[in-house]
Amino acid sequence: MLAAGKGTRMRSSLPKLLHPLGGRPMVFHCLEALSDLDIGLPLLVVGHGAEALREAVGERAQFVVQAEQLGTAHAVLQARQQLEGSADLILVVNADLPLVRASTVQALLEAQRTHDGPFTMLTVVQDDPRGFGRILRGKDGEVLAIVEEAEATTEQAALRELNVGVYCFRGEWLWSALTRIGPSVGKGEYYLTDLLQIAVDEGLAVKTLVLEDPEEAIGVNNREHLAQAEAALRRRINRHWMLEGVTLIDPLSTYIGSGVTLGQDTTLFPNTILEGDTHIGAHSAIGPNCVIRNSRIGDHCRVEAAVVEHAILEHHVDVGPFAHLRKGAHLAEGVHMGNFGEVKNSYLGAGSKMGHFSYLGDATVGANVNIGAGTITCNFDGVNKNRTEIADNAFIGSDTMLVAPLKIGVGARTGAGAVVTKDVPAGTLVVGMPARAIRRVENKD
Ligand code: UD1
Ligand code: CA
Repeated sequence: MLAAGKGTRMRSSLPKLLHPLGGRPMVFHCLEALSDLDIGLPLLVVGHGAEALREAVGERAQFVVQAEQLGTAHAVLQARQQLEGSADLILVVNADLPLVRASTVQALLEAQRTHDGPFTMLTVVQDDPRGFGRILRGKDGEVLAIVEEAEATTEQAALRELNVGVYCFRGEWLWSALTRIGPSVGKGEYYLTDLLQIAVDEGLAVKTLVLEDPEEAIGVNNREHLAQAEAALRRRINRHWMLEGVTLIDPLSTYIGSGVTLGQDTTLFPNTILEGDTHIGAHSAIGPNCVIRNSRIGDHCRVEAAVVEHAILEHHVDVGPFAHLRKGAHLAEGVHMGNFGEVKNSYLGAGSKMGHFSYLGDATVGANVNIGAGTITCNFDGVNKNRTEIADNAFIGSDTMLVAPLKIGVGARTGAGAVVTKDVPAGTLVVGMPARAIRRVENKD
């Protein structure tokens, strides 16, 4: 995989291949397609931003350094020592092609396996050439040369069959032919694409495989291409989930990360962004206007206009509008969390309700608890985060301040506006500021 180029056209301090696409560094997409094939660990040719790339890619590839970026042919040559003699077929892939499918690369490998010629290459026919090399064919349709845009005549530039940048070579031929490439007239670079001309001059036939889905050939050279790739990736992912039985009211405004899973008959409303390691069950309705990150949501849930991060929602949970679930929020079955609430590092037991304007941080709440409007866990004393424990069937009155560390017993109650600084025994009503016990209360259930 060729990944040493500077990516000048991105105009960025970040190496091109580390720009996020579908929420992950662009280079991961191509690496993943290759990892689906039985071809061993890919060898990544790195140069510009080598250290950052190595760190991001880690164990997913081996590396070889191209110290000076003298062109794609020169980049392949850097891999010679590691690959020569170890493989009959050498697959070369430009790493800035994030949408190429594993099945396409597999088909290319198969094509070359049954071909006597020196290599097989992938081409695409499309109207927007995006700076790609143009394919020149002879009168019998045979390929003759690849002309780079910088060197193309007006007539050649008008050609619409393009070089995708994925090739499968016979190893022996590749290593010797590479040494015969000279610098290009325009940029003085060593072009891998000159190999086609070399093969033709030797009287060898090169095979082409034409892409059926032109979207696979979206190569990213600048940020306009990056946005096109993002949109194409989104279309691909959205199509997959719709075919799996998920309703997308407006696919154009629905963003589903590649690590996300969704259950059947779930509906995603517009402006829904699902990121990271997020799993949503069946028969749920998410959005409009939701951001859900690294979270687990069960079946039959309803989440509207909410931001949910590193949280767990069990089945039949109802959240929003305007709710924020932060890291460690865990809402058990049937919990209702209404508008303008925030929950962090807290568990709400089954059937508990928190309807309006409340903050629960570092709390454990039992089942069937009512958290009145405006309730706040005062969990931070300036130095430590302290826990609040609220037992089953408790009733927290509106605007209660729960000054942690604090325990509220089973079935206890707090009056509206109470500031609770001391533990409240089971079945006791507290009121006032600071709250003091005034009487025992009867519990109906
Ligand atoms: C290249 C092809 C072009 C093809 C297009 C499609 C050549 C000469 N041209 O053009 O025919 O249509 O890809 O993908 O190959 N790289 C290195 N070292 C270098 C130069 C580049 O590793 O010295 C890497 C880049 O990081 C990139 C890939 O090779 O991943 C392609 O280089 P890029 O400069 O993007 O080539 P294109 O102009 O797109
Ligand atoms: Ca490119």
